[in-house]
Amino acid sequence: MSADRIDIAFEVNGASVSVSTPPVQRLSSLLRDELHLTGTKVGCDAGDCGACTVLIDGEPACACLVPAASVAGSSVRTVEGLANGKLSALQASFLEHGAAQCGICTPALLVAGTALLDRSPNPTEIEVQDALGGILCRCTGYRKIVAAVMGAGRFMSASLDPAPPPSGLPAISPSRGEITRSSILLPTIDVAGDGAAAQLLISPLAGEMAGRPEGGVGRSAASQNSSPNIALSRNLNRRLPLAGHAVGSSPIRLDGIPKVTGAEKFGGDSFPADALAVAVIRSPHYHAAFSFGDLQAYKAANPGIAGIFTATDIPGKNCFGVIPPFADQPALAESTARFRGEAVALVAGEGEAIASLDLTKFPIAWTELPHMLQPCEAQAADAHLIHPSREHNLLTQGFVERGDPEAALAKAAHTVSGEIETSFVEHAYIEPEAGFAHMDGDTLVVTACTQAPYMDRDDTAKVLGLAPEKVRIVPTATGGGFGSKLDISLQPLIGLVAMKTSRPAALAYTRNESMMSTTKRHPASMKATIGADTDGRVTGMVFSGDFNTGAYASWGPTVANRVPVHASGPYATPNYRALGRAIHTNGPIAGAFRGFGVPQATIMQETLYDALAEKLGMDRLDFRLKNALRNGSETVTGQVLNAGVGIADCLEALKPHWTRALADVENFNAGNTARKRGVGVASCWYGCGNTSLPNPSTIKIGISPAGKVVLHQGAVDIGQGSNTVIAQITADALGVPLSLIVLKSADTAITPDAGKTSASRQTFVSGKAAEKSARALREKILRFANVSGKATLQFDGAMLVIREGEATRRVDLAGLAVDADGFVFAAQETYDPPTLPLDEKGQGTPYAQYGYGAQIAELEVDLKLGTVKLIKITAAHDVGRAINPLLVEGQIEGGIAQGIGMALMEEYIPGRTENLHDYLIPTIGDVPPIETILVEVPDPEGPFGAKGLGEHVLIPTAPAILNAIRHATGVLVTKVPATPSRVRAAIREAEQ
Ligand code: FES
Ligand code: FES
Repeated sequence: MSADRIDIAFEVNGASVSVSTPPVQRLSSLLRDELHLTGTKVGCDAGDCGACTVLIDGEPACACLVPAASVAGSSVRTVEGLANGKLSALQASFLEHGAAQCGICTPALLVAGTALLDRSPNPTEIEVQDALGGILCRCTGYRKIVAAVMGAGRFMSASLDPAPPPSGLPAISPSRGEITRSSILLPTIDVAGDGAAAQLLISPLAGEMAGRPEGGVGRSAASQNSSPNIALSRNLNRRLPLAGHAVGSSPIRLDGIPKVTGAEKFGGDSFPADALAVAVIRSPHYHAAFSFGDLQAYKAANPGIAGIFTATDIPGKNCFGVIPPFADQPALAESTARFRGEAVALVAGEGEAIASLDLTKFPIAWTELPHMLQPCEAQAADAHLIHPSREHNLLTQGFVERGDPEAALAKAAHTVSGEIETSFVEHAYIEPEAGFAHMDGDTLVVTACTQAPYMDRDDTAKVLGLAPEKVRIVPTATGGGFGSKLDISLQPLIGLVAMKTSRPAALAYTRNESMMSTTKRHPASMKATIGADTDGRVTGMVFSGDFNTGAYASWGPTVANRVPVHASGPYATPNYRALGRAIHTNGPIAGAFRGFGVPQATIMQETLYDALAEKLGMDRLDFRLKNALRNGSETVTGQVLNAGVGIADCLEALKPHWTRALADVENFNAGNTARKRGVGVASCWYGCGNTSLPNPSTIKIGISPAGKVVLHQGAVDIGQGSNTVIAQITADALGVPLSLIVLKSADTAITPDAGKTSASRQTFVSGKAAEKSARALREKILRFANVSGKATLQFDGAMLVIREGEATRRVDLAGLAVDADGFVFAAQETYDPPTLPLDEKGQGTPYAQYGYGAQIAELEVDLKLGTVKLIKITAAHDVGRAINPLLVEGQIEGGIAQGIGMALMEEYIPGRTENLHDYLIPTIGDVPPIETILVEVPDPEGPFGAKGLGEHVLIPTAPAILNAIRHATGVLVTKVPATPSRVRAAIREAEQ
C-alpha cells in the first residue's frame, strides 16, 4: 500500500475483488475505470441524476458520492450482476414494456428496481416512485418504467432454464427473478451473422449494433465487455413477427438487450487505456477578451502534460456550424470569448496529471467586456455587434404572409391579442458529451456520441484541415440528444489532440461544462392577434416572435424559418402574417431542441385560441375542430394538403375524454375552494424533415452468401428506435422475416449517409429510403429468378427458396459471385422528400409531410401556493401508420414529460442553473398517467403510410397545461415556465 492509496477487498457481483485505491476515489470511478464495469453510468458526479446507482449490501446508493475505500468488506451489485447468465425478471420486463429508450439511465433504474422487488415483490405505483425517485430519465416519461417494475412479477414465476451458465460466468445459484429465454419472448435477430439465427449473444450484439469492427483502439466488444455472454435458448418467439407482418407489430427493440445488461457502450464507456485526457479551458465570462501567458512554463511546471493547444494550433478553418452559410463558431475562440463556457484552450496529458491540475493557475488573462443577455438589449442602437457582419445582432428572420391579415382582423367579429415569453431550456440528456479520437494511419477516427455522424465528419474535417474521407465518425450509443448532439462539441477538440500528439485522446464533459457550452432551446418573446367571424371561423392572424439565439448561429436560422410556417397551428388561417427573428446575444447558444421553435409558437397560438373560443362562447375543442385543416385545405404557405391530414381525427378521438374531464372538473370544483381543477386542450402540426431544403437519406441492403439480409442503417438511434423501425420496414418491403436482418448501424466508413437524427425525419425519410432499397433488392432477386412480384422469398441457410404458385426455384447463394461489399445481391436507394422553396412571402411547399396531434391536460392548482398537480394527460397523435406501436407510445410519453418540464419547471439561467441540482427536470413523480390514442391517417409519401412524430409529441403539452391552469384559475400565466411563484402572482394580480 502506497501513502496515497489504500488496499481494500470487497465483493462485486458475487466475486471477490482486491484493489488499491486512492482514499478519495469515487466508487463510480473505481467501478468504471479500474474494474471496467461501465454499466454504472456517470451523469453528474454530484448526486443529482442517480445514473450511478448501485447496490451496496443490498441498498441503493449513488456511487459517485461514495468513497471507494468505504465499501471495504461490503457487497456491491451493479447492473452487470443482475443477469447471471439469464436476464433477470426486471430486465426482461424492461424489454417487454419498452422501458429503455436511449438506455443511459436503465442500469441505475434496474438496480434500484431490483432492490425494491427484493423487499416488495408486488410494489404499488407509489412504492415504485419512491424507490426510483432519485434517478432521472429524460427519454421515457417514466410511465413504462413504472409499468415494467410493477409488471416484473409476471416474469418471476417463469421456470428456470436448467442449462448451466456459459463458461466464464460466476457460479452463483439461480435466484428469484431469473427467467429463461422462453418466457421473455425476445426477437432472434442474428446479429452475430454466423448463421446461428436463434442464438443471441449479448457481447457480439453490442459490437454489431454499434456497427463497429472488432478490435481497433481501445475496444473489443467481447473482451472489454464486462457483461457475460448471455445465451438465449432457441424457442418461443411470440413477439417475433412473421414475414410481411413486421410493420405494425412491437417486437422487443433490436438493440434492447445491451441496454438492460449494461453492455451498451456510450460515449465515455470505451476509452483506450493509453488515451490522453483532455481538459478544456473555458471562458468564465459572457463576453471577454483574453490573452495567454507563458504556456510552456505552465506545461513545464506540471509533469504529465503532453501538450497545450489554442486556436493557433488549429490546422484548418477555425469555424464550424450546422448550416454552412451561417457557420460562425470557432472550435477554440481566438482572442475574444462571446459566451460563458466558450472553449479557448486545451490541456492534454496523462489521466492522473490532468485530474490533479490546478486550472485556476492556467496562464490566461481575461478582460471582461460589456455583455447582453436579452434580445432587447442586443437590438438597442448602441449595442455592440457580436458578429460585425450581422447588423442589429439579427442573425436572420423568417417570414410568411398570406392574404390581408390587417383587413381580416379589422372585419373580424372577435379578436384576441396576447404576449408570451419563454425561457432557455436545457436538453439535460443524462449522458454528457463524451468520446475519444485516434489516428488510424492518416485517418482520424472519432468515436463519440452524436446525432449526426456525417455532419460531424464534415465539420471536424473542415476545422482540422482534413479531407472529409480522412475523418471517420463512429457513433457510440447516445444517451439522449433531443437536438443538442446535432452540433459538434468535443469532436474537433479531441481530434486536434490526437492529430498533434499521435496518441488517442479522450474527453467526457462534466455536467457543468456540458450545460454551459452546448445548445439550448431558444427563449422566445412573442406577440399575436387572432380574429374570427361570428360562426367561429378564424379569419386572420398576425404573429411576431423574437428568439434569443445566443452567441453563435447553430440552428437559429431553422428556428426563424420554421416558426412562421407553423405559428398558425394546424388550422385554416386564410389571412396571415408571421415573422420569426433570431437575435444574437452573449447568452448560451440556442440551437435545435425537439420542435425547433414550434413548441414556443404553439403556446402563443393555442392560448389565444382558448381566449377566442371563450369570446365566441364556443366549446374550446369544438372551436379547434371547426378550424382544423382537412384534406384539400391550404396551409398558410399556400400548400394544398391533398391527403393524410389527421388533426380533426385526433381532436375527434379526444372528444369523449374532453367531455368526461370537463364533468370531472366541474364536480371537483363545486366542492372545493382552496384548490381548483382545470382541463386544457392544444393541438400540433409539424413538417417532417428540413424546411424547403434537400434532406436525403440513403440506405444500403445486401444479401450475404450465408443468406443474411445485411441492413446498412446509418440513421443514428438515440433511443427513439430507428434501429428497430427501419429494420421492420426493410423486412416487410423485402418480404422476409425480421429475424433475418443483420444490422450495421451508423459509421461513416460503413453506412451510407442517412442524414441527421432530427426534425422527425428518420422514420419518414430514412424509412422511405429503406423501403425503396428493400423493394429494389426484391426486384433484383425476382428478376434473377425470372418470377413475378407475387413470388415469396424464403431463406434456408445459404439456400434462397423462391416460390410462385406451384413453381419453386432454389438459389444456392454460396455459389454466386460477391460484390465489393461481399454481397450476392444488393441495392442502395436514396429518398429526398419533394419540397419547394418558399418565395419572399413564405409561399411554397416547405414539407412533403406533416404529422398531427392533440393533447388534453387535467390538473389541479393550489390557489394559495400556486402549485400545479397534473392529474392526467390524454394524447391523440396521427402517426400515419404506427410501424412499432410500443415505440410510438414511448416517444409520446417521453415528449410529454419534456413538455411538462417546459410548462412548469425548466428555466436555464446562465451562471445559476448549470447543474442538475438547480436546473429541475421532471422526475418519476412529476409525470401523471398518460393515455395514448394512436390515430393512423396514412401519409401518401411515408413508408407504409408512416409519419414522423419525434417533435410533435412535445408541442401540445405546454399549451394544454397553460390552458388548463387558466381554466382552473381564470388566469393565463404569460411567462413560461409556470412556476408556483408565477402562478401565484398571476392569481393575485387578477384578484386586485
Ligand atoms: S453521476 Fe452520481 S448521481 Fe449523477
Ligand atoms: S432512457 Fe432514460 S435517459 Fe434515456
